[in-house]
Amino acid sequence: MTDSHLDRFNIAARDYTTDKYPGRAQCARKVLDLLEPRIDDVILDVGCGPGTQLTQLSRSIRFGYGIDPAEQMIRRAQESTTHCPNLQFFVGSATAFPQEIHHIGINKIISNYALHHLPDNEKGQSLRNLASLLPDNGMIFLGDLIFSDNPDKFRALFDIVGYGPGCDTPSRLSLLEGMFIEAGLSPWTYILNPLVAVIVGKKRSPCQAPRRE
Ligand SMILES: C[S@@+](CC[C@H](N)C(=O)[O-])C[C@H]1O[C@@H](n2cnc3c(N)ncnc32)[C@H](O)[C@@H]1O
Repeated sequence: MTDSHLDRFNIAARDYTTDKYPGRAQCARKVLDLLEPRIDDVILDVGCGPGTQLTQLSRSIRFGYGIDPAEQMIRRAQESTTHCPNLQFFVGSATAFPQEIHHIGINKIISNYALHHLPDNEKGQSLRNLASLLPDNGMIFLGDLIFSDNPDKFRALFDIVGYGPGCDTPSRLSLLEGMFIEAGLSPWTYILNPLVAVIVGKKRSPCQAPRRE
């Protein structure tokens, strides 16, 4: 990740809110709806920003861990969650995990609007690494800018979903679903609009054949 990429998110941390873009807030709500949190869940949030989603979950789960490459996002998350003793936040990225998140019993992973900042080859690598943190039947809930149709046909949506063609690198839905399968995850998808979707992936046990739900 380049320094300018990181600077962008450290600066954005000053006044970042998920609901600056209605499409981003809708996507976060869908991720949390699908998650069906349980009191014994140990959840990792990748690209957690200021920790909004984990804060909303904190009373319904056992532990929540957030990682984000932007130190200023992590500082905001830590400062705003001193009343949530079951949450911890670390600097790290979708491709370089902090040591602390290994062997802590993560059974579900969420990520809202973060992976579209990675190029396609790094998304595939990241999904394989994330899947390796999960037990069999562990789940990933990935909400993001994900194109199920040609984005040029839907320019009127760009400002609603918060898509900047010059700086964001979302993937096509079929490509991402293929990456889930390659990572050992059976995917099923909820399309919110042609530019935004949530893909849920369940980790297959090694003897299960790959399939789409
Ligand atoms: C649009 S914000 C989303 C924050 C939060 N998930 C939410 O929904 O409010 C994108 C976040 O992704 C983080 N990010 C950028 N590159 C990343 C990477 N390679 N791995 C993980 N997170 C990344 C940014 O620092 C930023 O906090």
